[in-house]
Amino acid sequence: MSRIIVHERNHPYVVKLKDLPGIGNLTKEEKVLNYEIHLCACGLSKNKPFCDGSHAKTQSEEQGKMYDYDEKYERHELQNRY
Ligand code: FES
Repeated sequence: MSRIIVHERNHPYVVKLKDLPGIGNLTKEEKVLNYEIHLCACGLSKNKPFCDGSHAKTQSEEQGKMYDYDEKYERHELQNRY
């Protein structure tokens, strides 16, 4: 499966653990052992860098085809554009 991701952002995402929802309620050990952070790897999340479940839209992509997603996150198959 291939996916072309165009990023226009020119500075890094900063993840401050102290700002994560619910982190203040965990013990130090729970923070280290049990807290998971899911960072978006598909490029579609509306809450980057965190995964918001939007990757579900990519699950039905067909092997060997290329797609882009518009501003409404509607998928379009690319036809020899790259
Ligand atoms: S990996 Fe991108 S939204 Fe989940």
